[in-house]
Amino acid sequence: MALQDTPDTKPIQAGVIGWPAGHSLSPRLHGFWLQQYGINGTYEAIEVRPEDCHDFIRGLAEQGMAGVNVTVPHKEMACNAVDRLDANAKRLGAVNTIVVQPDGTLAGSNTDGFGFMENLKTGAPGWAPGSNPAVVLGAGGAARAVVAALLDAGVSELRLCNRTRTRADTLAADIGGDIGGAITVVDWAERSGALAGAGLLVNTTTLGMTGKPPLEIDLGPLPITALVNDIVYTPLMTPLLEQAKNRGNAIVDGIGMLLHQARPGFRQWFGVDADVTDALKAHVLAGLDQ
Ligand code: ATR
Repeated sequence: MALQDTPDTKPIQAGVIGWPAGHSLSPRLHGFWLQQYGINGTYEAIEVRPEDCHDFIRGLAEQGMAGVNVTVPHKEMACNAVDRLDANAKRLGAVNTIVVQPDGTLAGSNTDGFGFMENLKTGAPGWAPGSNPAVVLGAGGAARAVVAALLDAGVSELRLCNRTRTRADTLAADIGGDIGGAITVVDWAERSGALAGAGLLVNTTTLGMTGKPPLEIDLGPLPITALVNDIVYTPLMTPLLEQAKNRGNAIVDGIGMLLHQARPGFRQWFGVDADVTDALKAHVLAGLDQ
């Protein structure tokens, strides 16, 4: 028997499930790390139809997989398919990382907020969460993770602004919990005024993404000392970031959130605490052109 066929050298298998999944940059990201660290492992995009999602997840251990990332539209459904949710996934009602435990049970977590915060910390080391209000635009799934992470980091006042106001109200009630008082919901029409005195502006809407309308916002009231982050990364330099940079604000682009959210899964499946480097970023971004 060839050495690579022995049970000991069977590759560790992980991947990302989505519908569709082919567009995901995660295989490129994890593939880079697998090669960099010389790990005998695989990470593939797996197309799973919504109606098959629950059974697929339940069968992970039987298929010999170490676990999976979960992307659109399965993140909410995955909550019911795992055996255990960490506190953050439970609060967000969404799972993006599943790890098969040694006893075969499934642990679900959500690392999007971790990725968001690590991106800000490394991209703008001088930014302090507690100092000035944060303004978050949008109230979708990404916004939930961002708002929760900012509250956990100690943001004292968070102004939440969404086109559909009721969605922002729901998010504030769901995520704010007993510290919900830190969230103030602001009408979409008032988004520019909400920037007065802010220390951070985050766009979590799809506005500014390639093929979508631009985000129309007057940055006039935003202090020049504020940090501006867009979680959109197609294009990397969104019109919002361009506008902010041109007036002298510090900016952090959105690709780092994707790169950092992948670290906890990689560590648990493959056993290495992987680095986010410029080489990784360039490799993943090159995947956008393909
Ligand atoms: P995700 O889960 O990635 O955050 P989503 O749930 O589709 O995606 O959320 C998209 C966000 O972009 C929402 O906040 C959405 O606002 P609504 O809740 O009002 O739909 C926002 N968005 C999308 N198109 C928009 C537009 N033309 N103007 C303003 N906001 C928009």
